[in-house]
Amino acid sequence: MKLAKRVASLTPSATLAITAKAKELKAAGYDVIGLGAGEPDFNTPEHIIAAAIKAMNEGHTKYTPSGGLPALKEEIIKKFARDQGLSYEPAEIIVCVGAKHALYTLFQVLLDEGDEVIIPTPYWVSYPEQVKLAGGVPVYVEGLEENDFKMTPDQLKQAITPKTKAVIINSPSNPTGMIYTAEELKALGEVCLAHGVLIVSDEIYEKLIYGGAKHVSIAELSPELKEQTIIINGVSKSHSMTGWRIGYAAGPKDIIQAMTDLASHSTSNPTSIAQYAAIAAYSGPQEPVEQMRQAFEKRLDIIYNKLVQIPGFTCIKPQGAFYLFPNARKAADMAECRTVDEFVAVLLEEAKVALVPGSGFGAPDYVRLSYATSLEALETAIERIRRFMEARA
Ligand SMILES: Cc1ncc(COP(=O)(O)O)c(C=O)c1O
Repeated sequence: MKLAKRVASLTPSATLAITAKAKELKAAGYDVIGLGAGEPDFNTPEHIIAAAIKAMNEGHTKYTPSGGLPALKEEIIKKFARDQGLSYEPAEIIVCVGAKHALYTLFQVLLDEGDEVIIPTPYWVSYPEQVKLAGGVPVYVEGLEENDFKMTPDQLKQAITPKTKAVIINSPSNPTGMIYTAEELKALGEVCLAHGVLIVSDEIYEKLIYGGAKHVSIAELSPELKEQTIIINGVSKSHSMTGWRIGYAAGPKDIIQAMTDLASHSTSNPTSIAQYAAIAAYSGPQEPVEQMRQAFEKRLDIIYNKLVQIPGFTCIKPQGAFYLFPNARKAADMAECRTVDEFVAVLLEEAKVALVPGSGFGAPDYVRLSYATSLEALETAIERIRRFMEARA
């Protein structure tokens, strides 16, 4: 069967090859430590699970409105008011099957063939593919390490063409963990307002911030910026609910309406039970969110300090999310590998540690190391990398 062209141009996930290799080694009996996880390793808080069970027992097992349960939209509205001081109406919110699906649906309703979306590198792997699936063209702006991987207003200005429809801002960032300050966002926002570029603000790691850093949404900065921003968020990372698949978008009514119409013909609605769980996540105690944040911060401090002492690696200390994104170009040279991709493969084969190569994030000299795993596993993994590198120093 000849498949559609849109599938032919899909780039398979960069993590897949390394995950497959790690699985193969594990199946062969090797003790492999995977640092590729993109999800918190904690279980979903108990009261959220209880709310889902209660919803099932009460018969909330039927279709819901396509855009999400009104009660959940109300909780999301309260969350925006509480955390960002932002005010939204229900018609400005759509609940989707995870933040990923919110982004997918957004690009489907936003882009015509050839429309451009500016994506700063290093980027989350799904952005370019989702833009391409909607007929759009990703336009990359290189986030430089010396600028903490952040896009500057000048870079943004230079990337804008008459075909530019939107720019993606992901703060805190996957994979770099960097956070844009209010001043930086304001300067980027001014460029977007001057050129009529929609801002897609992916804030999924909002709650995972460290070292006293502050999360600011670009939509908070002025009513004009709010009007030109779609915020993407969800409970996956904040409440350790990746499998429940609840995310959402907030923004101008016309865009949200189009997304809701599209969802009505694709998913119908996000799972009813998961929506009740998300209501509990936002209306219930937030202490578990803070406890998980503290656990991540503790791990970050321990493993960051160990990693930067390993020959061949340099790394900016992340301020958010749960990844380290070190430059491993020198490490690859020391291990006599031509590319960092090759280095990652050799490290897995010999040290039995699985990292994610930066090539999938548009930054081929880097590796991503997730600390969403136990401190014990992290410390063993770092020790294995250290021994591997010291033998080559
Ligand atoms: C930057 C970023 N945005 C969105 C998502 C998707 O989140 P969800 O699990 O809610 O679809 C992820 C998940 O890895 C992510 O890293």
